[in-house]
Amino acid sequence: MALIDWKPEYEVGVPAVDAEHRAMIEMINDVYRELEGTPDPDTIEHALGEIHSGIAAHFALEEQMMRRVGWREYEEHKANHEELLDDMRDLMDVHAANPEQGREELQRRLADWFTVHFASFDARLHAAFPDSHHH
Ligand SMILES: [Fe+2]
Ligand SMILES: [Fe+2]
Repeated sequence: MALIDWKPEYEVGVPAVDAEHRAMIEMINDVYRELEGTPDPDTIEHALGEIHSGIAAHFALEEQMMRRVGWREYEEHKANHEELLDDMRDLMDVHAANPEQGREELQRRLADWFTVHFASFDARLHAAFPDSHHH
């Protein structure tokens, strides 16, 4: 079972951005699926590291674009990105100390964040600047 099912309300209306968001969800679902079995902890740690850097890169570009257009919600939006990155680092620590707990934490910390962030912060940003995405 996938941890996060893509829903139409996550779409921000800019196809390139939606494609990146879908890819992020995909990566998270993949690692969540791997955690169902008895995976090698190093493999999971590696996958979490890759997800973290992929997401951080997406956030950095989005923040750059927000600064460029002078987005009024920049501070709150960036703070919400940082919350997720902090949570992911915590999740990696939890997994390193106790792999069994990793899956539970992934669910607890990540699933809601994505569904809320795409439909709120990102939706507002990309609706206001449909032509200024970061690609
Ligand atoms: Fe965002
Ligand atoms: Fe985004």
